[in-house]
Amino acid sequence: MIVCICNNVNSATIKSTLESGVTSLKGICEETGATSCCGKCKFKVNALIQDHIPEDNAIHLTA
Ligand code: FES
Repeated sequence: MIVCICNNVNSATIKSTLESGVTSLKGICEETGATSCCGKCKFKVNALIQDHIPEDNAIHLTA
């Protein structure tokens, strides 16, 4: 599935980057180019990052 239309980055590429140890939005941007144009894909990239983080370390946004 394409996540970043501007840079033609798919979810497999982002997951592969996450598995290589790059787990920040900035790092994903630098490695893949995702989020570097219009930024509309940031929500999707963040969701993939959150899915990748083990539950124990996940940031819980609700109280
Ligand atoms: S859709 Fe990713 S930067 Fe535009």
